[in-house]
Amino acid sequence: MSASVSIPPAPGEEGWDILFTDARLATMVPNGTPYGALEGMALAVKDGHIAWLGPMADLPNQSARRLVPLEGRWVTPGLVDCHTHLVHGGDRAAEFELRLTGASYEEIARAGGGIASTVAATRAADEQALLASAGPRLEALLSEGVTTVEIKSGYGLSLDEEAKMLRVARRLAADYPVTVRTTFLGAHALPPEFEDDRPGYVQAVIDMLPAIARSGLADAVDAFCEKIAFTPEETARIFEAAQALGLPVKLHADQLSDLGGAALAARFKALSADHLEYTSEEGVAAMAAAGTVAVILPGAFYVLRETQLPPIEAFRRHGVPMALATDCNPGSAPLTSPLLAMNMACTLFRMTPEEALAGFTRNGALALGLGASHGTLEVGKAADLAVWEVERPGELAYRLGFNPLLYAIRDGRARELPMAA
Ligand code: NIG
Ligand code: FE
Repeated sequence: MSASVSIPPAPGEEGWDILFTDARLATMVPNGTPYGALEGMALAVKDGHIAWLGPMADLPNQSARRLVPLEGRWVTPGLVDCHTHLVHGGDRAAEFELRLTGASYEEIARAGGGIASTVAATRAADEQALLASAGPRLEALLSEGVTTVEIKSGYGLSLDEEAKMLRVARRLAADYPVTVRTTFLGAHALPPEFEDDRPGYVQAVIDMLPAIARSGLADAVDAFCEKIAFTPEETARIFEAAQALGLPVKLHADQLSDLGGAALAARFKALSADHLEYTSEEGVAAMAAAGTVAVILPGAFYVLRETQLPPIEAFRRHGVPMALATDCNPGSAPLTSPLLAMNMACTLFRMTPEEALAGFTRNGALALGLGASHGTLEVGKAADLAVWEVERPGELAYRLGFNPLLYAIRDGRARELPMAA
């Protein structure tokens, strides 16, 4: 990377904050070209937004406080990891070993391990401890170009404990250069105090919702609809209550069996339905009609050694946007690498590298309701960019365990910049 040149704005002229020149842009705007690619481009940033982009030849004569010659390097939108359980206490390495000797995720969950053990560890941790343990996981995501992350609660399972998790998620947004969207996942599992009272806990979750909505701590509401978690009927009751409070919904759906979760999510015009390995053609069609995004989570599929593939071809045929995410969590996906998730989506699910990158940019933003402001390189959108040392964007999904990120910019600001922002 060559040194940057600073051009002070002319007197009385506002000027741009940063001007990137000679860039190759994977805009991810569908324009008939793979990756929405545009070569020989300049991109200008002003007040945290993309102020101008176009061919070098059309560059207006406008000053910029910082000039960054990219010498043909590729720029993508900053990555959006739209499904994580980043904030949690403890780890489940022992469970990993148990599973290697034959115990299934479901058996472990039914025996009181699994999510319940993370609930105990999360309840035992104070906010400072949760913040300290989530920090390195978030750093790992940022180091691969993530500029927006969704963080779920779901290991507290009482109003106070769920709010504690969500406050930590908001704190991460204040402490790190990342946009955070939070999701209330009270309906993740039964807490020990409701072990024998499912209806009681479903009602308790519904009763938590008004306070969660008032607090402003949650941007959406999620549930785990599965045989080992909540039924479609219970999920529907929770969603009705969420919608009455104006909170959008998302759903962990059809991960281990087909309970009609995708169609249920669609009925509530959910932002997304996530996992979806067992989703039927009808479920896919319902999602298409509702505009519900499919969030594909290859990390959990890989870790749980699942064999049922999500219906990728059906999503394509029905035009359902596919997002991709790490699902970073201590049980089914201790994964903090979006690049590895992209590789897994291609290798395991036969998604294309372009679909994988769209999954972590344009469609990830859609899954969070941020499609108008994030996820593509377009004038007016947030200046969230990732600059990569690759020859072509497909390389992002190709390597395993290699990180070609040069740097990321979020809202027009970089942390560590070769150009010393
Ligand atoms: O997305 N499916 C439910 N929730 C998580 C797993 C949580 C855990 O095992 O701790 C998931 O896979
Ligand atoms: Fe999840």
